[in-house]
Amino acid sequence: MQVLLAEHAGFCFGVQRALDQVEKEVSQGNRVATFGPLIHNPQVVERLAQQGVGEVEDLEAASPGRLVIRSHGVGPEVFEQAKQRGFDIVDATCPFVHKVQKLAKEFTDQGCQVIVAGDRHHPEVQGIVAWTGGKAFVVADEREAEALDLRGKAALIAQTTLKEATLRQIESALRVKADDLEVRNTICAATNKRQEAARRLADEVDVIVVVGGRNSSNTAKLAQICQSAGVPTYHVETADELELDWFLGKQKAGVTAGASTPRWIIEEVVQRMTDVNQEQATTELLEQNQEV
Ligand code: F3S
Repeated sequence: MQVLLAEHAGFCFGVQRALDQVEKEVSQGNRVATFGPLIHNPQVVERLAQQGVGEVEDLEAASPGRLVIRSHGVGPEVFEQAKQRGFDIVDATCPFVHKVQKLAKEFTDQGCQVIVAGDRHHPEVQGIVAWTGGKAFVVADEREAEALDLRGKAALIAQTTLKEATLRQIESALRVKADDLEVRNTICAATNKRQEAARRLADEVDVIVVVGGRNSSNTAKLAQICQSAGVPTYHVETADELELDWFLGKQKAGVTAGASTPRWIIEEVVQRMTDVNQEQATTELLEQNQEV
């Protein structure tokens, strides 16, 4: 069995940048905490905890220190509250997310009804909505878009990790309803690259393993894309979850990973699959010998 890695997989620019900022603080001996888990990857968060990086959920309850805003970003009220409580802020909001927040605010200031295409439970979306003063509507799909009551000017923007096809479906549904709709495709290029590479890989292989946190929305989307391509797809967080059965009789296996999956976890998975490969060959050889 051949093991192929997607052309684009693993850490994106924004996540790497946020992690670099935290590691720089640690290396300078600063006591640092992140506002919520730095990224949606439990293994990375665990490693940071071992280096003494704390996690703050409630600004009122935490004692002030250096506070890292993660790549998903937050609303203006969090900056305000953190400042008032005496936190020293390190803003690791991804510049692409920052751009969406800025657009959301500008459209709202111009009197436009902002619609965010994305997952309303995701912190990035919640942060974007906060920059509109809570006025933006969030829609996850075309069905929710169809149910909106729109009057006047409207502007559609997207969560950076949304699937391109979902944005297009939401746009089509809104075009019917809104007289004056401005659309900005704010899906991040890193997301597109990973999704396209996963789609290409899914066409090439007999089975695919998607690596990343179960709480990572972009990893879950990669798994959906591979599944929709009709290839058996398995989502794992670490190499320990791989099962030999998945690869029985397969000629080519693919590996892809979300934007919050570090290199070391991807390498472990690829390595383990290569080992599985050898185990499989040995089992097959033994079975053949028994038959003779
Ligand atoms: Fe930023 Fe795109 Fe990553 S928005 S956090 S570079 S997926």
